[in-house]
Amino acid sequence: MLTPINRQFLFLTGLVLLAVTGCSGSGDSAFVYGPVTTQLIREARGGIDELPGVEDHLDMRFGTPQEIRFWSKLPLNGGGHFGTVAESPDASAAVKELKLEFSEPPAAFDGEPHTLQFVTGAAAGSEDGPERVVVVRWDPETGTARLQNRLSTVPAAGDQIVLDGGHVLQHGRTLYHRHCVHCHGVSGDGNGPTAPYLTPRPRDYRHGVFKFTSTDGQAKASRADLRRILENGIPGTYMPSFVPMLDEQELNDVVEYVRFLAMRGEFERRLATELASDYSREAVLTRVEGGESRQDIINELRDVLSEDIYDHLEFVGDGVAEAWAAAEEEDAVVVPSVSRVPDTLESRQIGRELFLSKDIGCADCHGISGQGNGPQTTIFEKNPVTGELYDEPGLHDVWDNVNQPRDLTRGIYRGGRRPIDLFRRIHAGIKGTRMPSFKNLPHEQIWHLVNYVLSIPFETEPGKAASAGDQG
Ligand code: HEC
Ligand code: HEC
Repeated sequence: MLTPINRQFLFLTGLVLLAVTGCSGSGDSAFVYGPVTTQLIREARGGIDELPGVEDHLDMRFGTPQEIRFWSKLPLNGGGHFGTVAESPDASAAVKELKLEFSEPPAAFDGEPHTLQFVTGAAAGSEDGPERVVVVRWDPETGTARLQNRLSTVPAAGDQIVLDGGHVLQHGRTLYHRHCVHCHGVSGDGNGPTAPYLTPRPRDYRHGVFKFTSTDGQAKASRADLRRILENGIPGTYMPSFVPMLDEQELNDVVEYVRFLAMRGEFERRLATELASDYSREAVLTRVEGGESRQDIINELRDVLSEDIYDHLEFVGDGVAEAWAAAEEEDAVVVPSVSRVPDTLESRQIGRELFLSKDIGCADCHGISGQGNGPQTTIFEKNPVTGELYDEPGLHDVWDNVNQPRDLTRGIYRGGRRPIDLFRRIHAGIKGTRMPSFKNLPHEQIWHLVNYVLSIPFETEPGKAASAGDQG
């Protein structure tokens, strides 16, 4: 009898499984499910009979902190040598040798065991999950891998494989558990044991939203952006710098694990949202009050879980994959079309006029003297999800925290203090927060604003632009 999870592997190829061994301990508890999932009715979360629900689908694709899985659909560099089966072995023979092809072949080895995993093809979707075999000898000259045990499924030429798959994510996970988990939490929900004491709160990666990116508009953070955050920390917050504590390789590996957690969280959130309008506890209650029978609703959900959800899974997975891949494209980065306008008194004054102008409205939030006390900080806002007023006045970010406009008189810039960092901040905005994108302003005007903003801490009295050269 197939358990729901095993049954699904019949449809689910393209998974790489990484068992992380030797890691029991307090830091290794389970991934939690997000708020949209936990609002669903039990049947939508956990499935009906053999049909998997949202949580099962998530676990199948991302695993647990002890056994991470990753989906080759997603632009994650798990590590390992990817290649293909060069020739289909003779089915009648006991398969103990495989001809493999790699774009970058691993070096020869003999004796020490290496894991080989099938990513596509029959062996990728067997009842017990993707087939994992141990290779004991590899000869790059002949392209022959000697296996420790016989294969239970005969692979075909062209089936994708990975040798030593996932060491990057495994290593990233270990580092994350050592250095980040107490603030950012096991699931990357920003809810580690230290988090309640911190303002601003550690980032909840699960929205897939990062604040300080060099990328435009809706694009995600690039790997380079995340690395820069780890190198510099976020000044004015509890987010520390990890240089020189972590070396090059370690920084890369932990960045990849952050991307993994972000993609997991975002995938979950979007998948659960597809079901929430009809199958959240609240929606079902309303439907029952409206005269529908609970049994009919469950029957309808059964159809969804056996059919429609597969379209959602592909659609949501593709969407997440495309957005993260796009952030790595060269043209995703904000590049000024004109070089920096010289930082003169005149430029600062133009910048100040733009800052105060009604159209642009920086002062609405940051206040006329830039102290972060504009009129927008005193109004009561509605929570866009619940439709109710927040208890406290002021702007709120997508994580539902009060979002204080920066006090620009202090000269502390979280996304970096270089002029180009501030240019990107004004151009792209600060994602997930109320700092908007001003991408439609002429780039020259953005430079005037940058010159003005950088001069604010040096003003002798508000609005009286300090003369150029005073700063720094
Ligand atoms: C002492 C607590 C603490 C630790 C430890 C910590 N962080 Fe953070 N981190 C924060 C806080 C607080 C923020 C949010 C700052 C803000 O909103 O401006 C943050 C934000 C971030 C961001 C978001 C950047 C953006 O542009 O949105 C990333 C990525 C990040 N941390 C990664 C890590 C990684 C990786 C580690 C471990 C190597 C780590 N952090 C360790 C507190 C911490
Ligand atoms: C609707 C409100 C709003 C408007 C309008 C607004 N900001 Fe902001 N701004 C914010 C908030 C909120 C933050 C802090 C976001 C965060 O980090 O959580 C911020 C942060 C900043 C920062 C800090 C960047 C850093 O790296 O720390 C700068 C600089 C800035 N704004 C400049 C401007 C300029 C210049 C304008 C006008 C062109 C402007 N803002 C318009 C709300 C606003």
